[in-house]
Amino acid sequence: MKIAVIGSGYVGLVTGACFSEFGYEVVCVDKDINKVALLKKNKIPIYEPGLEDLVKKNTSAKYLSFSNNLKSIKGSKIIFIAVGTPTARRGEGEADLKYVFQVCKDLSKLIDKNDKPLIVTKSTVPIGTGSQIINLFKKYCPNLQYGVDYNIASNPEFLREGSAIEDFLRPDRVVCGVANYETETVLKELYRPLNLREAPVLFTDIESAELIKYASNAFLALKISFINEISDLCEKVGGNVQMVAKGMGLDNRIGAKFLHPGPGFGGSCFPKDTRALYASFKKNKLKSTLIKSVINFNEERKLNMVKKAKMLLKKPYKGKKVAFLGVTFKPNTDDLRESPSLVIIPELNKLGVHVYAHDPAYNKSFEKIKQFKKVKWKKSISDVVKGTDMILIHTEWNEYRGIDLKKIKKLVKNKVILDLRNIFNKNELIDIGFVYNNIGQK
Ligand code: UGA
Repeated sequence: MKIAVIGSGYVGLVTGACFSEFGYEVVCVDKDINKVALLKKNKIPIYEPGLEDLVKKNTSAKYLSFSNNLKSIKGSKIIFIAVGTPTARRGEGEADLKYVFQVCKDLSKLIDKNDKPLIVTKSTVPIGTGSQIINLFKKYCPNLQYGVDYNIASNPEFLREGSAIEDFLRPDRVVCGVANYETETVLKELYRPLNLREAPVLFTDIESAELIKYASNAFLALKISFINEISDLCEKVGGNVQMVAKGMGLDNRIGAKFLHPGPGFGGSCFPKDTRALYASFKKNKLKSTLIKSVINFNEERKLNMVKKAKMLLKKPYKGKKVAFLGVTFKPNTDDLRESPSLVIIPELNKLGVHVYAHDPAYNKSFEKIKQFKKVKWKKSISDVVKGTDMILIHTEWNEYRGIDLKKIKKLVKNKVILDLRNIFNKNELIDIGFVYNNIGQK
């Protein structure tokens, strides 16, 4: 079976590489000439553990190829649309669908009824987009009959950055939104290798599939915000939020995952998708108090982390030095999109604080980020902490968990740690002589 994936960003690339792993013939198409040139040399433009090996293996086995030319979709039984749906510049936070609709327009000129392609949205799109896409194709290809010459489906992704391959190959579920039995049969065949591994494949109507994606992301964002709010109460009155989360998580109805408190959720999905879901409510003249609260709470959360830093640094802030450990929105990625660090660092700078930063995924592009223009980048943990007044743990990279604190103690100016990911043991740190503050403990 030949499959085409349009858009070789995060989602498209992982999807294409993983389908090729099942022995399907996959072509990944992207209009970015430089990106495709890199991919053809097996160079991966994003940081994702395991992806480079998967791409190398499957390009040399000729299961996977890359192209700039949309015409390479020819002969594909399934065509995935995996282009970006960023927050629109204007409006209430709705997703900007211009890239999706442009792909539909371009594709419509290439549909061959002999291939009888199934066009599937992988991109995260608001409820109702599938119907809009069907109408677009009906308009652009009046000579072809929807449901006979081609079909449309929705198949949202649930991939986490940093563990996307594992998530693809061992998913909790696969969701397929279809409008007819034939489409269901094609997608059943496509996902047979995963279904054999007992991954549930759920078939729904197109609208439900679209909403499952947003509702899932918003619910996870809500779970994180909920535990973050509980952590504020623990800090005031006592208790340990990690124990609270553990106790809550043992209830199967709640579940233990996504109850880790922190500086607020970031990344390319939760912030964007909660905003877009809220916009869908507004567009349909419905009130959504819950989702709006999650959005507002998360924005405020980042500023509250600055308040914590101020409390530990103590006045005067001007001239104080902070060692900032980890700037990405989570470990195992070089993604900075909507990372809390983009808010916390400039706020510290505004106080006259000097920020020295380290990140295992650091690359030159970090220096081009405007919020980081005053940051001094250091290559090692020893270098970044040297002579500083406070160490701030922002991202829970594994290599920070095992830091030799007795050694670090001799390098810093003031023994103060603000641990926004609770990676250290409070009593241990206090025993060594640090002033230690974390999340959700008095
Ligand atoms: C998220 C979802 O987890 C995926 O299922 C979804 O497919 C993806 O968005 C998407 O829509 O494409 P991702 O953004 O890669 O994946 O990252 P997560 O691991 O979900 O983390 C998101 C943010 O929440 C991070 O800033 C992380 O630090 C924070 N988080 C996560 C917490 O603060 N506490 C937690 O317990 C979990």
